[in-house]
Amino acid sequence: TVLVVDFGAQYAQLIARRVRECHVYSEIVPSTMPVSEMLAKKPKAIILSGGPSSVYAEGAPAAPEGLFETGVPTFGICYGFQEMARALGGQVAQTGIAEYGGTRLTVGAEGVLFAGLPAAQSVWMSHGDSVVAAPEGFAVTAWTSDTPVAAMEHPDKGLYGVQFHPEVLHSEHGQAVMKHFLDAAGCRPTWTMLNIVEDAVEAVRAQIGPEGRAICALSGGVDSAVAAAIVQRAIGDRLTCVFVDHGLLRKGEAEQVERDFVAATGVRLRVVDAQERFLKALAGVTDPEEKRKIIGREFIRVFEDEQRAIIADGPVDFLVQGTLYPDVVESGGGTGTANIKSHHNVGGLPDDLRFSLVEPLRTLFKDEVRRAGEELGLPPAMVWRQPFPGPGLGIRIIGEVTQDRLDVLREADAIAREELSRAGLDRDIWQCPVVLLADVRSVGVQGDGRTYGHPVVLRPVTSEDAMTADWSRVPYDVLARISTRVTNEVREINRVVLDVTSKPPGTIEWE
Ligand code: XMP
Repeated sequence: TVLVVDFGAQYAQLIARRVRECHVYSEIVPSTMPVSEMLAKKPKAIILSGGPSSVYAEGAPAAPEGLFETGVPTFGICYGFQEMARALGGQVAQTGIAEYGGTRLTVGAEGVLFAGLPAAQSVWMSHGDSVVAAPEGFAVTAWTSDTPVAAMEHPDKGLYGVQFHPEVLHSEHGQAVMKHFLDAAGCRPTWTMLNIVEDAVEAVRAQIGPEGRAICALSGGVDSAVAAAIVQRAIGDRLTCVFVDHGLLRKGEAEQVERDFVAATGVRLRVVDAQERFLKALAGVTDPEEKRKIIGREFIRVFEDEQRAIIADGPVDFLVQGTLYPDVVESGGGTGTANIKSHHNVGGLPDDLRFSLVEPLRTLFKDEVRRAGEELGLPPAMVWRQPFPGPGLGIRIIGEVTQDRLDVLREADAIAREELSRAGLDRDIWQCPVVLLADVRSVGVQGDGRTYGHPVVLRPVTSEDAMTADWSRVPYDVLARISTRVTNEVREINRVVLDVTSKPPGTIEWE
């Protein structure tokens, strides 16, 4: 394990991912964790992240007592580097010169970190203070025009530090620098997808025991599918999956779960056809929040009924959830399960349906979950599915949700997805909601006749994390093909419009 000590930077997760890309397992810990607790995790190496503040600022997070005397190889980045320098007797000063963004780095000595790398390289900086003198015994190996000590190392003590951010892609050789540190620390690249899946299966087997039974709700998305597949490998038929078909999925998605996923995993699945029930509950409702509430409420009710039916066959103690590592980190890390409850999708279970959570993806990032899904042989369309909201097409029909409208939207959406895929844009686009303006009609002409149909909105966006987004510059000819096909093939639609709003101010979904 490599511990990434989080000094409150938005970069800690990125550092952890870069370490994992070197096939070394890494975990994020808060900077308030005592060194004894860190050592209990038997780390092979420790990396100190950047942080927002000056090491001299009031309340600035200090490295935990004794961190640099553990003998565990340690790599300080940005704030972590300054904190290392300060703690070991070097000099950190407010030079009045801040460096933000791309900077040229001059490597004066290759040392361990820069072995075989060019003497001039571009790096990404983001700091106000600077280390102006390295602690005794350290070699200064790189600098920039504004920063006299941009990298330092003391290989005998296993201590290394850089002012720049090797974890961001703008730092040309950042990944190599990171790898050199990990190699020097003796971290071997053993963390492969095969091992990850096998370890997860073992851990689930140990948690559930030889008799325990578990249930899992499948949504059609990648997280619940991969979590279920892992648990199925661990306990076989003692896992029952439940798929609530609420009729709000896109074309082909219910079949993916019911047919392809089951074929790929052998999972025991109960399908609940709840389409009528959801339509009835949604009848006459146009308010977005109201729709979301109804869909969430109905889902829980249906799922509870299923749970009771399954429990009638024998006790069930475990509920499988596809919680991911970013959720765990964002809700305060920790090893317990209580603090992530707010994130889970099947919230608010009644008292007689209390379970222990099984969360086989708790240590994984999204892209790792996808690779685990491939390793497990899941259907590619599921593994690579773009984000899709829980309330599904229910919040992409502006106006009342009816069966006819769902059918129309499903057709239009399928055409848009097909053309975007065919143009090779799946990985460039974060997602592309297709929205039916069901209460809007406009006049058109088709063949020789006047039409009076509905518009659909294309909402292709690019994003890193869905918190912010920009509208995608989809090539005109691709837009043209979607428009032509949708208006030709879906009778009720006579207009296709493009949403060119970023987020903020717009959200990604329309409701
Ligand atoms: P917004 O519309 O808030 O969407 O910009 C951000 C991301 O979240 C997805 N989304 C949801 N996902 N349940 C979900 O599981 C929901 O109720 C929900 N609402 C929005 C949306 O598709 C986008 O990726």
